[in-house]
Formats: sequence, C-alpha cells, structure tokens
Amino acid sequence: MTNILLTGASRGIGAAAHAALTAAGCKVIGQSTAGGNGLIAADFAQPRAADALWAEALERAGGRIDVLVNNAGVFEAADIADADGFASAWARSHAINLQSAADLCRHAVLHFQAHGGGRIINVASRAGHRGDSPLHWHYAAAKGGMLAMTKSIARAYAAQGILAFSITPGFTMTGMAEDYLASRGGDKLLADIPLGRVASAEEVAETIRWLATTAPASLTGATIDINGASYVR
Ligand SMILES: NC(=O)c1ccc[n+]([C@@H]2O[C@H](COP(=O)([O-])OP(=O)(O)OC[C@H]3O[C@@H](n4cnc5c(N)ncnc54)[C@H](OP(=O)(O)O)[C@@H]3O)[C@@H](O)[C@H]2O)c1
Repeated sequence: MTNILLTGASRGIGAAAHAALTAAGCKVIGQSTAGGNGLIAADFAQPRAADALWAEALERAGGRIDVLVNNAGVFEAADIADADGFASAWARSHAINLQSAADLCRHAVLHFQAHGGGRIINVASRAGHRGDSPLHWHYAAAKGGMLAMTKSIARAYAAQGILAFSITPGFTMTGMAEDYLASRGGDKLLADIPLGRVASAEEVAETIRWLATTAPASLTGATIDINGASYVR
C-alpha cells in the first residue's frame, strides 16, 4: 500500500486527487485548514504548522510515508496602493504557498533518505512561469519559488531514490478559478485558451495520481504543464 500525505485535500484539485489516489488503492492522509471528514487540521499561516502535520501524518501512516503532495494554496489579492495590506499578503502567501511546502519537503527528504526513497509532487501554477495579475505578484513569486525548489530537490537526491515533480495548472475549474473567471469577465479569459475551456480538477488529479504512482523515475525534475496550450513553453 502506498501511503500519501496530500495537503489541501478538502476541496478543488485536492479533493479530486484524494478520490483518484484512493481509487488507485493508495492510503491517503489528507489535510485542510480546519480538518474534519478524516482530514488533519493544519493552518499553514501559522509558523511550523507543517512540522506538526508531518508528525501526525507519519503516525497515521504507521511510520512510513511514500509520497508527499503539496497542493494547499491561496490566491489572495495584494494591492500595491496599500502598504500594510501588501506586506501582510506577501507574508501570508509566502507562508502558505511556499514555506509550508518547503517544510514538508524537508521532512519528506529526511524520511525518504532513511527509508529507501519516495516521491514529492508540488502543485505550482502556470503563474510560476508566466507571472500573474497586478494583484498577484506574490502568488507568481511563490509558485516560481516552488518550481526552483522542486528542481533543486530532484537534482540533489535522485541518486537516493527521491523523485520530485512539479505540476503547473492553468485555470482549473474549482471554487478559486470560478471566482477568478467571474472577476475577469469569463469569456475573454477563455479566448486565451486554445483548448477552449479551463482544466477540470479531475484532469489535474489524474496527473497527480500518475506522478505519485506509475510515472517513470527518469521523469524526475520535470514540470508538467496543464493549461490547454494557453502557455506553451
Ligand atoms: N484552481 C486554479 O485555477 C489553479 C491554477 C493553478 C494552480 N492552482 C494551485 O492548485 C492548488 C489547489 O488549488 P485549488 O484551486 O484546488 O484550491 P481551493 O479549491 O481553493 O482549495 C485550497 C485548499 O488549500 C487549503 N488551504 C487554504 N488555505 C490554507 C491554509 N492557510 N493552511 C492550510 N491549508 C490551506 C484549503 O483548505 P480549507 O478547505 O480548509 O480552506 C483547500 O483544501 C493550489 O496550490 C493552487 O495554487 C490552482
């Protein structure tokens, strides 16, 4: 049985990944901010929350975690005209979108080194390559940081059987994307996607399932784009 720690499992991409991984026969230990429904509670805005999450997940997993999926994230506006709001939005985005993922990666690498390897999947964003809106510099910066961190892990620990992958979704139909589409006029945004629609959470979840279970080891270090050809690198 493959034991998987999945953050942000309560809704959106994370809930779809929870279902896909469970259907594939994995034991999924999920997290959300408030917990409930079998998920572990951890608020990544709080310093070191990831450390407590790792410890509880390891206990629930019986001492062995095989795969870490860093999926939790927030997409909140930061207005450059508001100095205090700008600073606090950057700090919060860094804590939730990057630092907590880094803390969990640190635990995972140490654990995988002691147990013969494992896999890390970091859910970043197209914004990490392309940048984001005037209100979301911080989000793009955090996701770009996540991509660089994942490549560093892949290069540093491949010889020890530790594989690391990034996923970079474009717009994906979850609560977060619906709000965004509505705020940006929907159709205009869709016109920028050659496929003609945003991704579904299930499409991203299927990619997470593949990377977590059967993707070949030589893929380590790769970033998988899921954006309907809206940003082709
Ligand atoms: N949807 C998109 O268009 C899109 C595009 C590119 C990348 N992504 C990335 O894909 C990932 C999932 O996105 P999504 O759209 O599925 O998100 P979502 O529906 O908004 O769900 C976010 C998840 O993160 C958790 N979370 C939020 N704040 C947290 C905090 N302070 N501490 C711990 N957990 C927290 C939420 O838990 P609660 O339910 O408890 O709040 C929830 O499980 C994110 O990393 C996002 O940046 C999404």
